[in-house]
Amino acid sequence: MTDNPAALIVLAAGQGSRMQSDLPKVLHRLGGVPLVGHALAAGRALDPERIVVVAGHGADAVRKAVARLEPDAVIALQTEQLGTGHAVLQAIPHLDGFEGRVIVLYGDTPFIGEDTLLALSSHTADVVVLGFETQDPGRYGRLVTGPDGLEKIVEFKDADEATRAIRLVNSGVLAADAALLRDLLPQIGNDNASGEYYLTDIPALARASGRRVEVVTCDEAETLGINTRAELAAAEAAFQTRARALALEDGVTLSDPATVWFALDTVIGRDAIIGQNVVFGPGVTIESGAEILPFCHLEGCHISAGATVGPFARLRPGAELGGDVHVGNFVEIKNSVLDEGVKVGHLTYLGDAHIGERTNIGAGTVTCNYDGVFKHKTEIGADAFIGSDTMLVAPVRVGARAMTGSGSVITEDIPDDAMAIARSRQVTKPGLAARLMQALRQKKGK
Ligand code: UD1
Ligand code: CA
Repeated sequence: MTDNPAALIVLAAGQGSRMQSDLPKVLHRLGGVPLVGHALAAGRALDPERIVVVAGHGADAVRKAVARLEPDAVIALQTEQLGTGHAVLQAIPHLDGFEGRVIVLYGDTPFIGEDTLLALSSHTADVVVLGFETQDPGRYGRLVTGPDGLEKIVEFKDADEATRAIRLVNSGVLAADAALLRDLLPQIGNDNASGEYYLTDIPALARASGRRVEVVTCDEAETLGINTRAELAAAEAAFQTRARALALEDGVTLSDPATVWFALDTVIGRDAIIGQNVVFGPGVTIESGAEILPFCHLEGCHISAGATVGPFARLRPGAELGGDVHVGNFVEIKNSVLDEGVKVGHLTYLGDAHIGERTNIGAGTVTCNYDGVFKHKTEIGADAFIGSDTMLVAPVRVGARAMTGSGSVITEDIPDDAMAIARSRQVTKPGLAARLMQALRQKKGK
């Protein structure tokens, strides 16, 4: 590592026509987050001072997604896709006043490793290109090297037979000194087979002005770009395989690894147990020793040590489970905090609620949190007992140690230690059932 500050430029303006999609390519999801989120997450390893995402096709949607993924990033608009060199040029105004290393990544290339990026950014050459050796160089740009580093990059379309035989190719990732980029980018022309402004002209231009240009290589797998739905599916499989292996290495028990699905940012503590067919959406953290039973779907939630969830539970964004909380089958929890020791055994919906310590929520309880326009909160104190099939019509507050009768529809606050029964009183008519049955059977017999 050097203390050289870093800036990140992520190219994400292309349409990705081979995806056959109305969605911009970089917004297709891998590991639960948009493709561009993977490049941004890897780039975070560089602790960048500036992050610029170049957007074009579907720029509004890309802008929204990037704001969620990386609030520090700014968007540079590239209204016409005139080539990778032109794309990087659009980002330059956003690097005004920045001196240091600029690293260019592609938004559709999700597997670039943090170590690789650190190797690039800490390299002392003026320009560093990330390349890889491959058996099948296909249509990649060819890296032409000499005794003192990289001489030039030749695009496939512009390469002669001898150059096409080169198996050291361009990943697209490049690092360069900011001042040098500002100087060289405007010099790039479009007199080539594609009529595009190639970023890949930078190495030769840098060499011509006496600069040092080098290649850093990485594993081909890191450079995998997504162009089609089939490639996206294959990348998802590769991502999941790696995420499962990492979880196992970290000391997580996966009862049947192939059936557990991870997101890019899933965090699971040591000695947690994950049952079969569990899906993690983005934003899940699970502390050591928690257990997720089979067939659960979790997203944007935190599970504390000692908690058990499922089978068949759904935890949605904002679900926070304290220590030793028990959530059982067919329970859905959204934007709710369950304090230590809460039990929600079965068939329940908790939304926009806070449940105090050790409170028991009976089967079939529902927080009626939505009036069709607004969401409302339900507050339940500690050590309360909510009877089965209670409807809690929010906003409503249930005091500590309070109880509700089964089948109650609670519309008013309940003080501490009180019992609320909100259902019609039972009427029992001796013998009526037998008489009614007899009458009905007689009618049928006629
Ligand atoms: C590029 C490289 C090639 C390299 C290959 C690796 C150039 C000229 N060629 O070729 O040497 O081997 O990547 O995959 O750079 N983009 C924009 N705006 C544009 C053009 C592209 O944002 O005007 C984005 C695309 O959305 C994409 C990335 O830049 O994410 C690469 O563009 P693409 O057209 O796919 O480049 P390749 O032809 O694959
Ligand atoms: Ca490409």
